[in-house]
Amino acid sequence: MVTSESKIDPFLLETVLRRPVREFSEDYLRRTREGMWDDSREALELLALESRQRILDVGCGTGELSRVLREEAPDDATVVGCDADRELLEIAADHDDPVPAVAGDALRLPFSDDGFDLVVCQALLINLPDPAAAVAEFARVSTDLVAAVEPNNATVEIDSSVDREGRLERRARSAYLDGVATDVALGADARTAFEDAGLEVCETRRYDHVRTVEPPYSEMALVAARRKATGAGLADDRETMLSGALTEAEYDDLRGAWREMGRDVIEQMEAREYRREESVPFFVTVGRIP
Ligand SMILES: C[S@@+](CC[C@H](N)C(=O)[O-])C[C@H]1O[C@@H](n2cnc3c(N)ncnc32)[C@H](O)[C@@H]1O
Repeated sequence: MVTSESKIDPFLLETVLRRPVREFSEDYLRRTREGMWDDSREALELLALESRQRILDVGCGTGELSRVLREEAPDDATVVGCDADRELLEIAADHDDPVPAVAGDALRLPFSDDGFDLVVCQALLINLPDPAAAVAEFARVSTDLVAAVEPNNATVEIDSSVDREGRLERRARSAYLDGVATDVALGADARTAFEDAGLEVCETRRYDHVRTVEPPYSEMALVAARRKATGAGLADDRETMLSGALTEAEYDDLRGAWREMGRDVIEQMEAREYRREESVPFFVTVGRIP
């Protein structure tokens, strides 16, 4: 049986564990995963979780998906997480009901061949320069299924009571997509990575993760509004945006408009009139080891 410790090669960890290409904060993961898979788990049916015994969640972050997998898997199944970011793993370990997780690189997993019957990732391939190489590595440690849950960040939809919010978010997203080095719009095209890795693709299913902000506002919604009004949220992606076609002057212009929009959001919140719905399309792709 695979445990969190038994198959780790400490030499491997010390020598090849690189920092991830892009880093994520606990706050970002909590905000963007809030309520994910609470409304429907239909798209996860493809993973046949009820019949799995050994599941690996690669790029598990704070363990948001790992906990969903454990809820759906049989009681005697083992679920293990793996991530390259040790700080996120510490946060995952501090959870009230933690899923065991280990440090490791998705491209050189610290597990021996055939250790799992399902290897899955969520929003990991969009952050890797060579998704097919990671899928091939997942296939090495799986005896049966490999799955990826990947968003298409180019087709996120925003409906907001602040008129200019949707327009500005589209402008910022377009600048970000233009500058980012990996395919953050991968979505259903993860299928190609599976085929390139030699897997038989079974099916791809869509799941729309819808997040709603409405009164009474959560602490998280208030923090997000403040980050709009100060421009902090946009500033996180400044370097990426400037790597594309956006000039410094255009960025400053966007930031000014963004902060004004944030102030409108706060004003509407004070009047309990602010409403926002964001829908992010995720695609679950499942492949079988031939
Ligand atoms: C967008 S987050 C998704 C986290 C989690 N799967 C979820 O959906 O909440 C991407 C995660 O992949 C991890 N990651 C990025 N590159 C990695 C690599 N080469 N090996 C392992 N983990 C990696 C990051 O540290 C981060 O936790």
